[in-house]
Amino acid sequence: MPAQKPTYQPDTEQPLLRQTGIGLRPPHHEALLEIRPAEIGWLEIHAETYMGGGAARHALEQLRAIWPVSVHGTGLGLGSAELPDAVHLERLATLVERTEPVLVSEHLAWSSLSGFYFNDLLPLPYTTESLDIVCRNVDVVQTWLKRPILIETPSTYLRFRDSQIAEADFLGRLAARTGCGILCDVNNIYVSSVNHVGLEAAPAVAEAYLDSLPPTAVHEIHIGGHSEVPADGRSMLVDDHGALVAEPVWRLYASAVQRFPHAATLLEWDSNLPPLQHLVAEAEHATRRRADALAASDDSRNDPERSSDERAA
Ligand SMILES: [Fe+2]
Repeated sequence: MPAQKPTYQPDTEQPLLRQTGIGLRPPHHEALLEIRPAEIGWLEIHAETYMGGGAARHALEQLRAIWPVSVHGTGLGLGSAELPDAVHLERLATLVERTEPVLVSEHLAWSSLSGFYFNDLLPLPYTTESLDIVCRNVDVVQTWLKRPILIETPSTYLRFRDSQIAEADFLGRLAARTGCGILCDVNNIYVSSVNHVGLEAAPAVAEAYLDSLPPTAVHEIHIGGHSEVPADGRSMLVDDHGALVAEPVWRLYASAVQRFPHAATLLEWDSNLPPLQHLVAEAEHATRRRADALAASDDSRNDPERSSDERAA
C-alpha cells in the first residue's frame, strides 16, 4: 500500500489568521527585539539566511520565542530536472527541526543545471512532463522534512510556447498529486498578469487566476510592492518588494481573502528596506483590509439580493 501523502489541514483557530506577518530581515532584528510590536502576528524567514550560525541564528532563537515563524525557501529549485540537492535539503531539514515553523514554503522555479547554480528563480514551461518532475521533487522534499510544504504562485516575465497547462491549474494538479499546499502571492499574480496581457486586462486575468486555484489548498497569501521598469519600448512590472502595496494588488488581495479565508497573510519587503515602523504600519493596514474584505463577504452572503444588484450595477 502506498505511503499516505502529508496534507495540510486548515486550522481556523490558528493565531496566524488574526494579524498579518512580516518577512524577517536582519536589519530589523534589533528593533523587533527591542520594540516587540504587538501589531505583528508572525514572522517569515528566508531559509538560506538562517541556515548558518552566528548573529542571525542567535536573533532567530530569541524572535521565535516571541512570534510564530514560517520558513520560506528560495534554493531547492523544485522545477529542476535534477533531484533537489541533498546537502541543501539536509540544511533545510536541520533549520526546520530547530525552528519548528508553522509553515514551510518554496518557489515554483529552477535555479541549477549540471552543477551550475544561477542566483535567480527561473521559470519553467507548464507541461505534463514538467508536472511529473515537480511532483517528484515536492514528494522528495516532503518526505525528507516529514511535513507538507506550500508552493508559491510565481511572478513571470515570459511565457513558454511549449506550455500546455495554465499555471493555476498546474499548481492545483501539483497540490492534488503531492498533498502540498499553495502560497498565493497576489502581488506576483498581478505582476505576471500586467506583464502578459497589459494593464487594462490584468485585473480580470488575475481574478480568473484566483478562481482557478483550489480554495482548500491555499494556506498563505503574500502581499508586497512592485516597481515599473521600461523594457523593449513598453513598461513591465518587477516584484522587487521595494514599495508599498499598490492599490490594484490590494483589490486582488480582498478577493483572495474572500476566496481563501483560512489563509494567513504575510507582507514581504526586500529592496529599499524601510524602518521597522513602516512595515508595521503596512502590516496593520493589511490586517484592516482583510477584516473589511471578510465583512463585505459576510454582508453579501446575508443579503444576496443586494449583492446580485451590485454585481449587475
Ligand atoms: Fe512572495
